[in-house]
Amino acid sequence: MSANGTPMLELEGINTYYGQIHILQDENIVVNEGELVCLLGGNASGKSTTLKTILGLVRPRTGTVRLAGEDVTQLPTAHRIKRGLAIVPENRRLFGPMTVLENLEMGAYLRPKADLKAEFERVYELFPLLYERRTQLAGTMSGGEQQMVAMGRALMSQPKMLLMDEPSMGLAPILVEKSFEIIKHVNESGVGMLVVEQNANVSLSIADRGYVLSTGRVVLEGKAADLLQNEELRKAYLGR
Ligand SMILES: Nc1ncnc2c1ncn2[C@@H]1O[C@H](COP(=O)(O)OP(=O)(O)OP(=O)(O)O)[C@@H](O)[C@H]1O
Ligand SMILES: [Mg+2]
Repeated sequence: MSANGTPMLELEGINTYYGQIHILQDENIVVNEGELVCLLGGNASGKSTTLKTILGLVRPRTGTVRLAGEDVTQLPTAHRIKRGLAIVPENRRLFGPMTVLENLEMGAYLRPKADLKAEFERVYELFPLLYERRTQLAGTMSGGEQQMVAMGRALMSQPKMLLMDEPSMGLAPILVEKSFEIIKHVNESGVGMLVVEQNANVSLSIADRGYVLSTGRVVLEGKAADLLQNEELRKAYLGR
């Protein structure tokens, strides 16, 4: 979906610490309405810490987090979720002994169960497989199928801004491409997305823009097509 230039998520001058250790350093990131942005960087560069800062699981020492223009820096996580934020966490974290349907229901736990018909319809329309498999236990599904459940679950809260932490992790190469097709598909349904990845090629090939983190600093940013051509990115920051 082409982004219309209205900021949905803004990180401005973010400095996040764990104890005395300064992790995120003057980080500035913007994701516009309907935009697909990827956040690249090697291990320990601060990608997950960025998502935790956006969710309010850690608080920055200085800087501002805004959702749809509203300063949410001091708001608890649940309030941010109510304002349209959702996450597909690392390793998907499904409820394995629960069915697909129950997992989807959990994605809308802030809402009364009776009101969920439209949400289920939307998710089943995006992922017909989840309807077919709604009574299967999530833990018995394949890695790629579990990825769909995790995305479906996040979409049940009707997010305006979806965060994803390393969706390609643990997937076979053929499923990685499939998984990114699904991500693009969800984005095209109108959801703004910030996708954390180490797989630069696949994520940049579907993204509008990208940022590259190195030891907690944004060292490169730009249009995805330009970053894809950038040799410095591969050599210096991604080691491949
Ligand atoms: N709760 C914590 N307490 C102390 N240090 C932490 C904590 N969480 C993360 N860190 C440190 O912060 C740095 C950034 O970690 P983070 O998880 O954000 O990196 P990442 O880019 O997501 O890495 P990966 O690609 O390995 O997932 C690392 O050095 C990590 O050890
Ligand atoms: Mg991480």
